[in-house]
Amino acid sequence: MKKNIILIGFMGVGKGTTARAFSKTYDVFNIDTDDLIESRENRKIKKIFEEDGESYFRVLEQEVADWIEDCIKGTLVSCGGGFYKVDNLKDLGTVVLLEASFEWILNRLLTSKNAELKIQKRPLFANPEEAKKLYIEREKAYQKITDITINVEGKSTEEIIKEIAKKAKIKK
Ligand code: S3P
Repeated sequence: MKKNIILIGFMGVGKGTTARAFSKTYDVFNIDTDDLIESRENRKIKKIFEEDGESYFRVLEQEVADWIEDCIKGTLVSCGGGFYKVDNLKDLGTVVLLEASFEWILNRLLTSKNAELKIQKRPLFANPEEAKKLYIEREKAYQKITDITINVEGKSTEEIIKEIAKKAKIKK
């Protein structure tokens, strides 16, 4: 895989799960922008939001994007839900959007293992009504910046990763 795959989509749509499964099956490394930020800052996303606010977090996302552009190739990059706003997203690789309705995402989070933890660690999901507003705000922007869209509703992880590989022309 020469070009990076840049996996974007709303919080809780399953980017991390998909990235890990893809990585294993197609023998590529994967990195996660939230993990990179947490290790760079030596604190959790929640803490960064609490101590320095969302705007500082967005600055960190841009730094991560610049680093990826300079240093990373042939890698699957799983992005935080707001990462699509960095100014060089299209230069990072093929942008793949995982898409689902807000209700499906909410249900996925609420019925998952460690549901409470998964919601708690996402400051912008603390209030589902606010999260829905954000979803509506971002829906079109995600589609606009995307090269490949995958609707994940009702699909297994296996099916999703196969569809990504097929559309992005990646062989095992
Ligand atoms: C955010 C999504 C989160 C994380 C941060 C902000 C967003 O990542 O980057 O809490 O703005 O949508 P996930 O999409 O992995 O939850």
